[in-house]
Amino acid sequence: MAQKIELKGKSFLTLKDFTAEEITYFLDLAAELKEKKKQGILTETLRGKNVALIFAKTSTRTRCSFEVAAHDLGMGTTYLEPAASQIGKKESIKDTARVLGRMFDGIEYRGYGQEIVEELAKYAGVPVWNGLTNEYHPTQMLADLLTIREHFGDLAGRKLVYMGDARYNMGNSLMIACAKVGMHFVACAPEKYFPDQALVEECRKFAEESGATITLTKDVSAGTKDADIIYTDVWVSMGEPDSVWEERIRDLTPYKVTMDVMKNAGEQAIFLHCLPAFHDLQTDIGREMNEKFGIEDMEVTDEVFESEQSVVFDEAGINLCRVFAIDDLLDVCERPSNRTTDILFDGLTKCDLENANTIQLHVVDIDFNFICPETCRFSEIRPSKNTPNLSRIVLRDI
Ligand code: CP
Ligand code: NVA
Repeated sequence: MAQKIELKGKSFLTLKDFTAEEITYFLDLAAELKEKKKQGILTETLRGKNVALIFAKTSTRTRCSFEVAAHDLGMGTTYLEPAASQIGKKESIKDTARVLGRMFDGIEYRGYGQEIVEELAKYAGVPVWNGLTNEYHPTQMLADLLTIREHFGDLAGRKLVYMGDARYNMGNSLMIACAKVGMHFVACAPEKYFPDQALVEECRKFAEESGATITLTKDVSAGTKDADIIYTDVWVSMGEPDSVWEERIRDLTPYKVTMDVMKNAGEQAIFLHCLPAFHDLQTDIGREMNEKFGIEDMEVTDEVFESEQSVVFDEAGINLCRVFAIDDLLDVCERPSNRTTDILFDGLTKCDLENANTIQLHVVDIDFNFICPETCRFSEIRPSKNTPNLSRIVLRDI
């Protein structure tokens, strides 16, 4: 069982904010919940909670992972897209945060600049999870690390090579993740696509602690030699203008993941991609680029994508677990003291709780002290003994 680490309603904005120990805890918890789901064991530990899912950019995996994981854990979800809500056009992020924070227990945001998700987190008063920004994609990192750990049995010391545009969300996040957990990260790209130097320096500091290394190279043969994991992503990310396609295709074609790259990496190497991927002509954009530039694939050949070394669909399945794990941040959510929280159990009314400082309750053989600070009608439940799952406890008597 994953050893509980108290994270107290902390937001999940970038892996930079978490220690290696905390990241390992997320992975252990995700693995545990994945196994329980496989065995059909219900884990509705977050029953009664609700989360808002804001998607300012499109998504298949992240949205579905959040919705299915929330449902599995007993939570309600509300999907919000800016075009169909007041967000941005008529209402600022700061105001939106203060409204949603009073209705929901947590908020997921996918969109543009990192500063937006940070502003949400600053004003919401509930945990905010980054479901992808231009700069970072931290929930994807949990899926990737778990996939790698499941495949190899370990993380530290493994060599991960990221090929392509290494200065965007995926390159940045993989560099941070590797630096935190002691993996050797290589950005293999033309120099202008190297990650930002300030972030590289920050990650080198994490690497000093974990034993990781960070290498930036233009040389495909040297960079990918003996790699354990070859990773790539689309060459043009969501939100970037169509006008950059031609330049990207020209600059990044030498960094396409081919069978030669995989052979150079080694027989044991796996191929990973966060998806969606342009590996054939079965998409609108793939066909458009074929018409314009005569190409049949982009960042990865269909041969590699469909090969035995490719574990991209295992990774997509694991995406679900990444959300299971970060939903756990809610489990230890500490409400800000200026909010009123009503927690009602069977047979107990709001009236019973008002003005009470401490109420002793008998809950199926277990005594609880319900502590009510003056600013809150009811804010904290403190079990006098260790109990498995507060939200499932039914009152027998008051
Ligand atoms: N990997 C990932 O984030 O996929 P979506 O864009 O489909 O959510
Ligand atoms: N770099 C990609 C990642 C998609 C999961 C994008 O931002 O579109």
